[in-house]
Amino acid sequence: MNKKNKSLKILRTITLVMCIVLVGLLLNACQTSVNLNKVALPSESNPLVSKKSTAADFAYPTKDPSIEDGKKSFGQNCASCHSFKTESGKQTFTLKYINSVTPSHLFKVITSNEKHPSFKDKLSRQERWDIVMYLRYELFGLPKEFEDIKTKFGGNCAVCHGTRGFADGNIHYYLNPLPANFNQFDRLYEKTDETLFDEISNGIPWTAMPPWANRIDKDKHFTFDDKFRWELVKYVRQFGYSTEKDPLRQEKLFKSNRTNKD
Ligand code: HEC
Ligand code: HEC
Repeated sequence: MNKKNKSLKILRTITLVMCIVLVGLLLNACQTSVNLNKVALPSESNPLVSKKSTAADFAYPTKDPSIEDGKKSFGQNCASCHSFKTESGKQTFTLKYINSVTPSHLFKVITSNEKHPSFKDKLSRQERWDIVMYLRYELFGLPKEFEDIKTKFGGNCAVCHGTRGFADGNIHYYLNPLPANFNQFDRLYEKTDETLFDEISNGIPWTAMPPWANRIDKDKHFTFDDKFRWELVKYVRQFGYSTEKDPLRQEKLFKSNRTNKD
């Protein structure tokens, strides 16, 4: 009994010493690899977390944002200072800008950005997401030939990603990592359009996601050229903001159906 206790004690001491040595080694490694002069250490004037923007300020939407509602809220809250076309005295949103920022960034700008009016107390979380997606929709929008892209997505991507983008395509069981679920807010809202374009073009290393740049679809006789891959980005994006009931989407779908038949 006594002997057992003794050896336990020794074991504990050894573990403790090993831990201390490990922490020491880690600290040492950090110091040599980080030049402390270059690191902006947090201070009173440079807090680690901005006082105005705490983690609680950010949250994903609880349902697909509505373009229709976003349009209304934009008119009431943003149009006095912003527009989509050049107007004197107004900040103009450009496609280039929208393609280069994440949807989450846009949400943060109007929620807790020290350089911008905050709408945190004025608009609900869902209303702010509605506006963000309306902004994106207005500039980037849906694929022009919606039904055509839908078919081509169905023929090339749905086997993994599923026709409705839920990562439930026929062969998804066999893949690790699983295909991306395009309906997952915390996934697509953290990516810029430019990143998605890059991933579609070049594929994602060590995953089943293949590169598509300039591939030829021999069955349907088309090439995955730049223009088509940008349309795919739009198509992938629409899973994250529209519902079948969205009137604006219905209108667009109706239009694209008609142009296809004409
Ligand atoms: C009182 C005027 C005003 C109102 C109202 C306003 N903005 Fe702005 N916004 C600005 C100005 C000025 C800038 C440019 C700031 C800068 O460049 O630093 C800006 C910049 C932005 C940016 C780009 C910021 C960045 O760093 O990426 C976004 C996005 C934006 N506004 C969205 C909105 C939305 C959405 C609304 C409505 C909910 C809104 N703004 C309402 C004045 C306003
Ligand atoms: C053979 C299966 C497969 C096919 C076919 C496929 N993908 Fe993927 N794709 C994946 C996998 C797996 C991932 C996730 C990789 C990861 O977790 O990083 C992925 C990721 C993506 C992403 C990145 C999303 C994100 O969150 O970063 C996009 C965009 C994408 N695919 C679009 C497409 C498009 C468009 C097509 C058709 C032209 C397509 N994929 C065809 C397997 C596939």
